[in-house]
Amino acid sequence: MFSAETYKARRQALKAKMGSGVLLFLGNEDSPMNYTDNVYHFRQDTSFLYYFGIDKPGLVGLIDVDNDKDYLFGNDINIEYIVWMGEQPSMRALADSIGVEETMPLAKLTGFLAGKEVHYLPPYRALHLFRLGEYLGNPPEKINKKGSESLIHAVIAQRSYKTAEEIVEMDKAVTLSGQMHVAAMKTARAGMKEAELAGLVEGMAVSGGGGLAYPVILSVNGQILHNHYHGNTLQEGQLVLGDFGAQTTSSYAGDITRTFPVSKRFSSIQKDIYNIVLKAEVDCIEALKPNVLYKDVHLQSCRIIAQGLKDLGLMKGDIEEAVAAGAHALFFPHGLGHMIGMDVHDMEGLGEDYVGYTQEIRRSTQFGLKSLRLGKALEAGFVLTVEPGIYFIPQLIDKWQAENKHNAFINYSALGAFRDFGGIRIEDNVLVTETGFQVLGQPIPKTVQEIEALRR
Ligand code: GLY
Ligand code: MN
Repeated sequence: MFSAETYKARRQALKAKMGSGVLLFLGNEDSPMNYTDNVYHFRQDTSFLYYFGIDKPGLVGLIDVDNDKDYLFGNDINIEYIVWMGEQPSMRALADSIGVEETMPLAKLTGFLAGKEVHYLPPYRALHLFRLGEYLGNPPEKINKKGSESLIHAVIAQRSYKTAEEIVEMDKAVTLSGQMHVAAMKTARAGMKEAELAGLVEGMAVSGGGGLAYPVILSVNGQILHNHYHGNTLQEGQLVLGDFGAQTTSSYAGDITRTFPVSKRFSSIQKDIYNIVLKAEVDCIEALKPNVLYKDVHLQSCRIIAQGLKDLGLMKGDIEEAVAAGAHALFFPHGLGHMIGMDVHDMEGLGEDYVGYTQEIRRSTQFGLKSLRLGKALEAGFVLTVEPGIYFIPQLIDKWQAENKHNAFINYSALGAFRDFGGIRIEDNVLVTETGFQVLGQPIPKTVQEIEALRR
């Protein structure tokens, strides 16, 4: 958590941008797993955290732009609660910690909002539709699920630019995430279950105080992009793709991916494919600076991947034409990266296209390119991921081959040997600076030589 001044300054800047109305920020509630008191790990709403900083359930933040006043709505706890959960700070103490003048019980919120111009962000939990319905005196089905467009734009315009104190937090998150990857790479052995590695790295994230930034992706089936199944046994000759990161106690996320061999060394073909992905990752990081379109950097990674696969005899034809047609997406069906901050896909809940695109730079509908979350021009202060990959997805290969899709660019006859290859992705988190870029966190092994040295 930052000082009260940080949260006050953020709210003041938002007031100046919005001009009028009442801005309503719903904090999250505890969410039951299988009965009311057995709850999932609590995750505060990120925009609430950004403006109101308090990582506890049961709160609503309110910014009254018209009267230049901020409020924290919530209820002081009673002795029954203290018996089970211990003493908690009072509403007044919570409000003081974030520089908010007024506190009010939640029961007063509906009356407070009546007749006012109320702006809120898009609700992404069903419960919030019901809560908004209650606060705004409407049935849930009458609630505008898209939220207030002017507030969405104003929040994105603020949260997109990370300040120095946020970068310190992000650097910590990435460093711990990197340590988790080093531990997984040091520990993995043939015969282990994926779950043993997933548990090891999750434990490290929990020990760091903030827990995971998102559920661990770790698999010998790296071609399944977001594989959360951890039941496979590691076997010699396989690759392990690990995509996981920690968040700090103040909820800033790291999102790192490494791919390594279960054996002590990569096989020759694994090394060849790995080095294509590595070149795409390193070259694209070096291309980052203000005013560059991230869509162009993504297309640069596509060309590097297509050229590398052509050199190995898996693709063919003119590389520019192949990428323009989207043929490379058989092997690289996702985007090069996304904004990252307190959300691992930063601000995605506010609307991906508001975050990553503009009126001029529109999202493509082409397979592969359509999954690029960030296409617009980069600016100093943005933090984003660079995460190219090459995957051999048997179901997709079979489908495209049956459809004779991109026959001019893909050597289907050469792909039979790759059905069990899996996938390789390499990912780092990068700050765009005034002059270029800064890779966040302490460096961890990334080249073939560095990873093999760690595996030995
Ligand atoms: N770390 C998962 C993702 O970027 O989608
Ligand atoms: Mn990512």
